[in-house]
Amino acid sequence: MKPTYADLIIHSAAEVVTCREPEVAEQRRKAHKGKRPLSNPRRGTEQDNAGIVPNGAVAIRGDRIVGVGATEDILPAFRGEDTSLIDASGKTVTPGLVDAHTHLAWAGWRDEEYELRLKGATYLEIMEAGGGIMSTVRATRLASETELKELMSERLARVLSYGTTTVEIKSGYGLSVEAEMKSLWAIRDLSTDLQASGTGPRIAATFLGAHAVPEEYAADAEGYVKLVVEKMLPDIAREGLAEWCDVFCDVGAFTAEQTRKILAAAKELGMGTRLHANEFARVGAVEVAAQMGAVSADHLLVMNAEDIEALRKAGTIAVLLPGTPLGLGLKDYAPARALIDEGVPVALATDCNPGTCPSENLALMISLACSQMKMTPAEAIVAATINSAYALDRGHVLGSLEVGKLADIVIWNAPNHRHIAYHFGVNLAEAIFLGGALVAGTQDRRALDDAVQDDALEEFLS
Ligand code: NIG
Ligand code: FE
Repeated sequence: MKPTYADLIIHSAAEVVTCREPEVAEQRRKAHKGKRPLSNPRRGTEQDNAGIVPNGAVAIRGDRIVGVGATEDILPAFRGEDTSLIDASGKTVTPGLVDAHTHLAWAGWRDEEYELRLKGATYLEIMEAGGGIMSTVRATRLASETELKELMSERLARVLSYGTTTVEIKSGYGLSVEAEMKSLWAIRDLSTDLQASGTGPRIAATFLGAHAVPEEYAADAEGYVKLVVEKMLPDIAREGLAEWCDVFCDVGAFTAEQTRKILAAAKELGMGTRLHANEFARVGAVEVAAQMGAVSADHLLVMNAEDIEALRKAGTIAVLLPGTPLGLGLKDYAPARALIDEGVPVALATDCNPGTCPSENLALMISLACSQMKMTPAEAIVAATINSAYALDRGHVLGSLEVGKLADIVIWNAPNHRHIAYHFGVNLAEAIFLGGALVAGTQDRRALDDAVQDDALEEFLS
């Protein structure tokens, strides 16, 4: 058989953190052949296994991974005359991070609210006084589609620079037919541009028209729900503008009953469902997520044992957003330990938004997951890669370093995977590859090419 030569081999990494899928599913997948792959995130004790290969290598051909394993096996098997080599000695290699929850489609800042909160005002008080989400809605309605696209483009460059290669973006600061469509058009156009130029990150769009009841409907929340169900959702589905529908189901936002109505309508139209659940209070959001078969329930700051059991039974992925309690100055984080110990698959995301967490840095969320929620570094890296990929229904094509998956890869300036969590607050993402192409990072192309001239490697190969 003709050998498969690689275009590029990243080799000699201190650790290649594959985040590969758990074994059991391989069998399930075989049994499932021909059909769409099953969702296969890591859960329970599996989540602590990040599939680490010491002195590892990854071989890439075109936009795909063709080999992963020990350097001494991968180099001889995949190196051809034209193969480029990158020496990753002393570094850690992971899949590109996947951010499964952001609100990047916004205009205007809310730094003055941040200061009000430092002086004692709460998020809910600010919202009741007409600030909060509504103040961003006012600014976003005023922005043109082009302005919104430019604002997102800047943010996405930052998202990518921190090692995130796939990102979910929600609308939800428009809250009118025109402004929600404008936000989703801007997301779609940006996604098309980034795909065409190959500069990424990859984007998944979510419609969050039910983020807040807008001022015009203050006295008629049901009327707004009706608008979402009867006008916004069908228009959006017709244009194929959103893969997902999300609802903020909480105090001061939408009730469990309203949420059920909206998600049921979205499902009818073929959209996937996810929701903001239990961020401030238990109003039945987790129950709705479980009943409706939502792919993920996000936030989960206020939880009890029943809620955890409901998620486990339904197989819902818990998307935790530790940047939010950090930004809000709250002491309590989501009960990640209990969720993992009870067998709920846990993913991590930034929640990047102007109100509660303006950070684009998902690696920082990995650090917070460890220091504040007592996840292990391996659990947190799995959460921000393969589990987040499954939370976006993309786990079968990305999120782990496995043969056949997209070559979305990060080389970290970290001697082992723990450093990604431990050495917090700085950007360690040295080289970021999207579909096998170097697209960002602190390491420039020349420095990487120099690595090809590595003497030790020549010696090893001769
Ligand atoms: O996820 N909870 C609702 N949405 C955002 C906050 C939005 C805002 O304050 O602008 C969140 O935290
Ligand atoms: Fe959110």
